[in-house]
Amino acid sequence: MFDFKYFTPTKVIFGKDSESKLTELIKEFGGTKVLIHYGGGSVVRSGLLKRVTDALDSAGIAYVTLGGAVPNPHLGLVYEGIELCKKEKVDFLLGLGGGSAIDSAKAIGYGVANEGDVWDFYDYKRTAKGALPLGVILTIAATGSEMSDSSVITKEDGLIKRGYSSDFGRPKFAILNPELTMTLPDYQTACGCTDIMMHTMERYFSNGGNMEITDALAEGLLRTVKKNAVILRDNPKDYDARAEVMWAGSLAHNGLTGCGSDGGDWMTHKLEHELGGLYDVAHGAGLAAIWGSWARYVFKDCLHRFKKFALNVMEVENKGTDEEIALRGIEAVEDFYRSIGMPTNLRELGVEPTEEELKLMAKKCAIGVGGAKGSAKLLKEEDMLAIYRASV
Ligand code: NZQ
Ligand code: ZN
Repeated sequence: MFDFKYFTPTKVIFGKDSESKLTELIKEFGGTKVLIHYGGGSVVRSGLLKRVTDALDSAGIAYVTLGGAVPNPHLGLVYEGIELCKKEKVDFLLGLGGGSAIDSAKAIGYGVANEGDVWDFYDYKRTAKGALPLGVILTIAATGSEMSDSSVITKEDGLIKRGYSSDFGRPKFAILNPELTMTLPDYQTACGCTDIMMHTMERYFSNGGNMEITDALAEGLLRTVKKNAVILRDNPKDYDARAEVMWAGSLAHNGLTGCGSDGGDWMTHKLEHELGGLYDVAHGAGLAAIWGSWARYVFKDCLHRFKKFALNVMEVENKGTDEEIALRGIEAVEDFYRSIGMPTNLRELGVEPTEEELKLMAKKCAIGVGGAKGSAKLLKEEDMLAIYRASV
């Protein structure tokens, strides 16, 4: 096992009506002028934005609002948010929604607290020295951004989608009310479940430093999400299933399921980020579409983990060679994805890249990871291209 740092400073308030604690929390973390940042309007339609502004009015907390964060959130709106915060002397950010609104808020927070172009952080040119404090009310269980150090932004010029990770970006508090996720379209619920599982699987499929306790947590989390994703497919209003998935989403990406490992593989995410940047697909669906091709390409180099996963998570029959068991596990994941309406290749995802576009994605992906990346198997540009080709 490897030494590790585990830092999860986010205060979590979980359960029905937990948003009633909002103004107390903003005051606790020193907010006096708030930017409420949200997405394309689901929080307007659900009434959440109105309840939030009413609560801030009653508590005498000043605020400004900025909506419009799109899935695969854009840098342009981040710049707009930074200007607005400076002009209005905002000292606290409130992200309402999913990973896109929260990530966009994180980027605004870096931009306000640091001089220069905020894209430099996403372009690996320098690191942030601070950020505005951020609180979130989550409306979709998926990315784990509510506790994670990551933020993923797309630069419109060149459609470059990049992530930046810094402990400064971790939210001060996260309000998690599973009921707020009940208005989600079924497709987004399934995308979220896929992303949650993938955050744990990226850490699980590694060739370095695995711990029994971490594996047990990871396997339990994966089985829980797999089970509850199917419950939600059949009954989207099941509160307990919403709650299981929501908490799993936070734990899947706050570092817990990676303690002691080498950090994990993360190549499915890197390959997906190119798809998201170029074709604007939903992140979870993009992951599902690419994972099987990635897994078949790498599994022999990480056979012991694929076998363990097949037996302990996908619960396949323990019969035949290790390779047969591992492959049965991969097939079981794809069957599961299909069962919740997720794609298992690019065609099912709805994109049909040309050979030139596949090459472009492989090239951008290789640049984005600094040449090569992967723990299950180290992948270079030619490997990335082979996986993209296999996923068509
Ligand atoms: O924009 P609105 O109108 O709010 O609609 C959203 C959006 O269309 C909708 N939605 C959210 N909550 C809803 C709802 N609709 C009805 N009822 C609700 N309660 O769902 C759609 C998707 O929302 P979005 O925020 O885009 O989804 P998600 O949370 O999956 O975030 C995806 C983004 O996060 C990045 C992804 O790459 C992608 O850009 N990621 C961020 C990570 C992080 N910060 O740690 C890690 C992830 O691996 C990921 O890369
Ligand atoms: Zn993800």
